[in-house]
Amino acid sequence: MDRPEISEAFFALEAHLSDFHDVTIADLFTKDARRFADFHVVLDDLLFDFSKHRIDRTTLKLLLDLARAAKLEERRAVLFAGATINPTEGRAAMHMALRTMSGVPMQVQGRDVMPEVLAERHKMLAFAEAVRDGGLKTAAGERFAHVVNIGIGGSDLGPAMAARALSPFVAPHLDLHFVANVDGADLADTLKRVDLARTLFVVSSKTFTTLETMTNARAARRAVIDRLGEAAVPAHFAAVSTAPKEVAAFGIPEDCRFLFWDWVGGRYSLWSSIGLSLAIGIGKQNFEDFLRGGEDVDNHFTTTPLAENIPVLMALIEIWYRDFWDCAAQAVIPYDQRLGRFPAYLQQLEMESNGKSVDLSGAAAGTSTGPVIFGEPGTNAQHAFFQLFHQGTEIVPVDFLLAAEPLASDPAQHPLLVANCLAQSEALFRGRTRAEVEAKLRAQGLDDEAIAALAPHKVFEGNRPSSTFLYKSLTPRTLGRLIALYEHKVFVQSVIWNIDPFDQWGVELGKELALRLAPLSADPAADTTGLDASTAGLLAHLRALRK
Ligand code: F6P
Repeated sequence: MDRPEISEAFFALEAHLSDFHDVTIADLFTKDARRFADFHVVLDDLLFDFSKHRIDRTTLKLLLDLARAAKLEERRAVLFAGATINPTEGRAAMHMALRTMSGVPMQVQGRDVMPEVLAERHKMLAFAEAVRDGGLKTAAGERFAHVVNIGIGGSDLGPAMAARALSPFVAPHLDLHFVANVDGADLADTLKRVDLARTLFVVSSKTFTTLETMTNARAARRAVIDRLGEAAVPAHFAAVSTAPKEVAAFGIPEDCRFLFWDWVGGRYSLWSSIGLSLAIGIGKQNFEDFLRGGEDVDNHFTTTPLAENIPVLMALIEIWYRDFWDCAAQAVIPYDQRLGRFPAYLQQLEMESNGKSVDLSGAAAGTSTGPVIFGEPGTNAQHAFFQLFHQGTEIVPVDFLLAAEPLASDPAQHPLLVANCLAQSEALFRGRTRAEVEAKLRAQGLDDEAIAALAPHKVFEGNRPSSTFLYKSLTPRTLGRLIALYEHKVFVQSVIWNIDPFDQWGVELGKELALRLAPLSADPAADTTGLDASTAGLLAHLRALRK
């Protein structure tokens, strides 16, 4: 640790680790009747329970000291002032302006961007409503029945995740589809499910140069031309981008082009016109509610004391596990089927942001940075990888997400979902001791020899940490809040780690190499001299298989 400004706070936390040698989360509950009361925070109907962690009041104090030593509040002010917080790209990161509903000025590098944000939001939502209510027609004068978003990364994961999360709010006469992969199967399988004559394609790409998106967009265009004729293209395509010239060159008319700005990172762009396909599905009012959810969290993040600030607490607790307990992974388990793509969405948000190994100055980061994020909906995940959570050698902190009330599903099943979610977080921290296991086996009539053989396999060490987010139901506003909480968590962590969370240079090398390899993969005669032995060998085998 060679960061003088935080080293004292860091070493204090390191020393504090030993306080947990003989103390488990279960002990902490036993000793402290006020633990739940003091270790949860409420934001409107959303409750964040962080009591089932290997933390006590001293831990929280020391983590908050760390945040202050890293100048979190000052950095937060820089972020919200729209200054150049992303130095390697020379950009601000002002996605919060996109969800500002009040119209108060929001500066980006010294300029109020709200007039253009509001104008573009108005244009996008008017278009979305026109598609939704049938005012905007297909080339043949019919209503649209399908919307296919073509995009990848932030231009796909956000709208795709949110469309699924908010499916009860999607107009029943509209089907939303998402095509991302350059694997032609993605588009081909989608085209099989749509009626092309009643399909609107939304080409979503911040740069409008991304290989996957432009390849799929051109293929979709060809499909429309083949089936409906060239003249149908303008009626069946819209585009969202920061690159209006490239969009125009693709042949998309001005009134079907929607812009956003380079100060909106791809993984933060769902709040912008990139949300078009979602907005078509759920309508203007719901989309605005979604934005309001994001704004609620911006207000919470900027005005709530650090000790009660949910994204700050989320970030600090995760840092405690990452940097002091050496936990390399973090799981997100929504007990909410429609949040099925939320872990994938968070993978981009978190791993593209904080998957860095140099700090802002370009020096090696002095600590471990972003963990591996993964997850699947509960209860499915219980029957897949929870075994490792309960009895594996790796400690994986878990975020559970749970709605109090189901939407558009059988309410009779919901208590079972709730029970499973609560049971898992309880089982993780409580565990089951050897004595408890032996007593249970004895009660089942097993003899001493059988008990001795079986007992070690049935012991749950416990003391495994988790947080729980409990909200009333998965409405647009709740979804907006959940996303913004994780966004700000990521930012807080980046401040402590002193890294740039808004660039993603790590994706470039693979893109460059793919461009170099594409002709070698297409042309069986192309010269592979100079490639490493594995790549050359794989290409040779591929060519042989294709013969
Ligand atoms: O490859 C990474 C990335 O640049 C992401 O950050 C981005 O969300 C995605 O590609 C898609 O980029 P674009 O929206 O420019 O097509």
